[in-house]
Amino acid sequence: MKVMLVEDDPVSLALLKKALGKSDPNVITARNGAEAWERFTSEQPRVVISDWMLPSMSGIELCRKIRAEKTKGYTYIIIMTAKDQKEDVLAAFDAGADDYVAKPYDIREMNARANTGKRIIQLEDTHQALQQKLIISRTKVRTVFDALPEEIISVDRKIRLDSINKAALKIMKGSYSEIIGKPCCQLLEESESDFYENTIKQMVQDGFKTRKTSTTLDRYKDANSQEIIKERTIIPVTREDGAVQTVTIVSRDITEAHQHSEEIRALNQKLKKISSELIKKNLTLESTLKNLERTQAQMAQSEKMASIGQLAAGVAHEINNPTGFVSSNLKTLGDYQTDMNRLIEEYQSLKTGLKTLPFGSLPESISAMIAKLEATETEIDIEFIQDDVNELIDDCREGTERIKKIVEDLKHFAHPGEDRMTETDINKGLESTLNVVYNEIKYKATVVKEFDDVPVVYGFPQQLNQVFMNILVNAAQAIEKSGRITIKTGQVDQMVEVRISDTGCGIDATHLPRIFDPFFTTKDVGKGTGLGMNIAYNIIKKHNGDIRVESAKGKGTTFIIRLPIYNEPGDAGTPDGGVATSA
Ligand SMILES: Nc1ncnc2c1ncn2[C@@H]1O[C@H](COP(=O)(O)OP(=O)(O)OP(=O)(O)O)[C@@H](O)[C@H]1O
Ligand SMILES: [Mg+2]
Repeated sequence: MKVMLVEDDPVSLALLKKALGKSDPNVITARNGAEAWERFTSEQPRVVISDWMLPSMSGIELCRKIRAEKTKGYTYIIIMTAKDQKEDVLAAFDAGADDYVAKPYDIREMNARANTGKRIIQLEDTHQALQQKLIISRTKVRTVFDALPEEIISVDRKIRLDSINKAALKIMKGSYSEIIGKPCCQLLEESESDFYENTIKQMVQDGFKTRKTSTTLDRYKDANSQEIIKERTIIPVTREDGAVQTVTIVSRDITEAHQHSEEIRALNQKLKKISSELIKKNLTLESTLKNLERTQAQMAQSEKMASIGQLAAGVAHEINNPTGFVSSNLKTLGDYQTDMNRLIEEYQSLKTGLKTLPFGSLPESISAMIAKLEATETEIDIEFIQDDVNELIDDCREGTERIKKIVEDLKHFAHPGEDRMTETDINKGLESTLNVVYNEIKYKATVVKEFDDVPVVYGFPQQLNQVFMNILVNAAQAIEKSGRITIKTGQVDQMVEVRISDTGCGIDATHLPRIFDPFFTTKDVGKGTGLGMNIAYNIIKKHNGDIRVESAKGKGTTFIIRLPIYNEPGDAGTPDGGVATSA
């Protein structure tokens, strides 16, 4: 650090220089005021030790001049003089001196005072440097502070404005210098004041008390009646000792973001609604598709029944005519045979009469004819023929009767054109169905019929026969080699009950609850569609009846159907739907 010694007396100057470090290049000297000023301006010493009385310019004047000059750093000035009056001392300080040393001085004291000056200058420099740094960092902070889009306002405990950034300045009435230190509420534009007048007080007070940051949403209308939403964050700013000095309020306009999030929320909700509607529609579609498949399959079954009916009606018509004339011809043939037998008997009594005549009384030719007749009788076994012809005719009659019955059963089973409910004889339906499916059953099972004389039910005979057929076919299919199918009818309360049991493989207990489900089958692909029991279930339900199954694996199965007895048209009763139970 440069030190300038100003002294006109060369001895004093030499002594002084010695005391401060003779060969120290930082110590410069001047012998008069003018030289001192010149060296000061050119070399900028930081400590000046000057005599008061000097040629060309006094030490006091030099002091004033230095103080008036704008220097880079502070200059510490010590004035030396023999003047020891108080006024003189005061005059020196008044001129800007920092210290005063009375002559004659002690050289060590002078050195110590010079060192104090150096220390003060060092402190001053440090202080300057820190201040400079502070200014730079403040400028930086300020720049960022002002560049932020958020409105930032700092207030003291009484909500007086401490600092404000550019964004917040826009909502204030007045310039920066006009508003600092003033109560915040009075400075605000109309639309903003509500929050600062009502909510802020409490929040600032809480901030001072709790030292915790808090956030709130503030909604209000601007001058154009547009809704504005601001997020207000209250940040207590503490001193080193932890006490809150100011509270900073950061306001962020989130109107647009809020609107976007509202829009997104609305869109999301719409999307949710659409997707749930889609799911619903999908489910409806799936169930419609299932229903369609079911209906299609059922229709195919009904159509099959209707075609069987139609075919049966045609076949019956075609068979009935020839059967009719075969049957009537057989009757005529029988009558003719009776006549022929009568004639044969008469021929034979004639032959016996002729043979009783005395030997030789008959011409030889007649005797030869009788012999030939008897030979033919023996040859053709006329007695056997006479007996057998009748039997044959009876057999033929029985055959035509059977043809008639089969045709009748076929017609009854299929009931072509029967599309309305009618009084239905269950025993008859079972009988005709059995005859139709007998071919399927006869190689595997003996059929035991235990029919009671049951009252009629009201229903669609063709459909009920379809139920019996599906159950009987299943029963036959359940029997592997040979078994028994028992068909029982009877009356239970006001219901006609049909029990169809088989000694087949039985149904697995886990399958029982699914037996009436559409498409449930345990049969190989192509062998079973799994619709037989579902169709049966639906038909019985349509008749207000009840169908259930009892089964034991390996022992057999019984299907029990109950149908309401017919009282008068339309009165069909309302029993429960089908259930499956394991025996
Ligand atoms: N009497 C029975 N004995 C053993 N199992 C049976 C009997 N009746 C029905 N089932 C079981 O119930 C299933 C469903 O019967 P359903 O008649 O509905 O269909 P399916 O016979 O498999 O096919 P289809 O549509 O050709 O009738 C059968 O696959 C079989 O497993
Ligand atoms: Mg079946």
